[in-house]
Amino acid sequence: MKQAEIIGVKTSGNNLHGYEEAVESFDWKEAEKAFSWYETGKVNAAYEAIDRHAETERRDQVALYYSDPDRKEEYTFREMRDQSNRFGNVLKKIGVKKGDRVFIFMPRTPELYFSFLGILKVGAIVGPLFEAFMEGAVRDRLEDSEAVALVTTPQLLERVPVDELPALKHIILVGATGELTDGTYDFEKEMEAASPNLEIEWMDREDPMIIHYTSGSTGKPKGVLHVHNAMIQHYQTGRWVLDLQEEDIYWCTADPGWVTGTSYGIFAPWLNGVTNVIRGGRFSPDDWYQTLQDNRVTIWYSAPTAFRMLMGAGADVAKKYDLSHVRHILSVGEPLNPEVVRWGLEAFNRRIHDNWWMTETGGILISNYPQMPIKPGSMGRPFPGIKAAIIDDEGNELPPYRMGNLAIRTPWPSMMRAIWKNEAKYNEYFRIPGWYVSGDSAYMDEEGYFWFQGRIDDVINTSGERVGPFEVESKLVEHPAVAEAGVIGKPDPVRGEIIKAFISLRQGYEVSDALKEEIRAFVKEGLAAHAAPREIDFKDKLPKTRSGKIMRRVLKAWELDLPTGDLSTMED
Ligand code: WTA
Repeated sequence: MKQAEIIGVKTSGNNLHGYEEAVESFDWKEAEKAFSWYETGKVNAAYEAIDRHAETERRDQVALYYSDPDRKEEYTFREMRDQSNRFGNVLKKIGVKKGDRVFIFMPRTPELYFSFLGILKVGAIVGPLFEAFMEGAVRDRLEDSEAVALVTTPQLLERVPVDELPALKHIILVGATGELTDGTYDFEKEMEAASPNLEIEWMDREDPMIIHYTSGSTGKPKGVLHVHNAMIQHYQTGRWVLDLQEEDIYWCTADPGWVTGTSYGIFAPWLNGVTNVIRGGRFSPDDWYQTLQDNRVTIWYSAPTAFRMLMGAGADVAKKYDLSHVRHILSVGEPLNPEVVRWGLEAFNRRIHDNWWMTETGGILISNYPQMPIKPGSMGRPFPGIKAAIIDDEGNELPPYRMGNLAIRTPWPSMMRAIWKNEAKYNEYFRIPGWYVSGDSAYMDEEGYFWFQGRIDDVINTSGERVGPFEVESKLVEHPAVAEAGVIGKPDPVRGEIIKAFISLRQGYEVSDALKEEIRAFVKEGLAAHAAPREIDFKDKLPKTRSGKIMRRVLKAWELDLPTGDLSTMED
């Protein structure tokens, strides 16, 4: 095994013990003391994130700096409290109750954040959706969760098949114009009429808080359910991994449709009372650097695909901006290439700290702790209070350098508590007693650093988004020209993986570039832009098992010129 390259510690934080010390002495019970339940037994994550600070001398500190190409606004903790209270009252007025699912389907704007917090304050379960979702994706999620209310915009409402969603009774429109039909409300008008004082719904720690839908290798997307108790993890990892301190200005680039955009785009910064930067609009290197510069961001949390795009634009672009105030940079979502870590040193004179977790884990579990040497290419070591291991399929822990299942000892505060209406799926993660089995394969080195190897299932990770091949295949075969489809992730220098589809056509259809384009657009329209295959190959026949399953493994081997492995189950 080759000696790992090591980059020493440069950033330092006041919040931090040394890593080893913290591992020795930390207990989750200590972290709990930061919150009201320590005294009252009840809690509400939105109260802890916003109102708690609005009741102290921090009330007039900026909680949210928002900007997009058309808007530039700021809100203090007190204003965030009042706005989210108003939205809570709007929901109460229309009859939303504790435990109801209320979804948000809109671009990143301040209204999204007022709504998100207001939903939690009345005890409802929030379901954030990516603005990029098309009708099919929206329907699946609202149907499965039986959402009763939706916050959206008039433009996006066109992608909500309201007539096919019997549970969905209320639509709240941000930017509504003209006449509103029954059950439809004008966000601005309702907010104006609502009181800024709200009676918050006090929750038990184990009461549901948020559903994030995420893709697996088979079946429809699954609704990963988290409870209010998850905030302990958001708070503590925010403090120690993100190194959030009171005077920090923090920017997490993730959309709330993705768990990173809620756990670390909402909860971690605000639970720690830190000023949060939200940038709407699209990615461009200049725009991003401008955002860092103008807001004087000190802590920046993003993803490998974004860092690779910035790298592609060149260190020169970075050098045009004053980024000297950035003291800590972090990355999550897919493997962070060592090359990118080295580039970060060159462009920002800072280490990029990789960390590992999943929608299901709710929060960071493995990280390059700030006060720890980095081995580029490694995800780091388990957070204090977390036990991670590499285990075989029987649950035996494997020695260093042996590849196996990356698993975590159960439980931890932000562990998912259910897959919505799908207990069997949930139980699959916990099939080995005492462990959560992640579905990732990895190994550990003798110093306890974890090294990611791949997904054990076929889930594709394109630009940090999890895409289930089955979902894309199902959409493809809905196209009249497509007989069968097999979808794989193909390694890509910028996006990590891209989606590649192998397609056999129905009788009467001819291979052509126009058809390729049409099929691509079909998936884009029906599912989401990020789920559309960037590459399509037409084949007369796809490799299949005798039971008729398309063998993605074989497609991948063909594509990458790898040995195809055992073909005994393949149909002739
Ligand atoms: C992958 C993301 C390598 C992994 C918060 C995991 C990573 C899946 C890393 C979860 C990392 C996440 N290095 N791979 N640092 N972080 N992954 O649910 O396969 O969108 O299982 O949550 O992303 O993706 P999810």
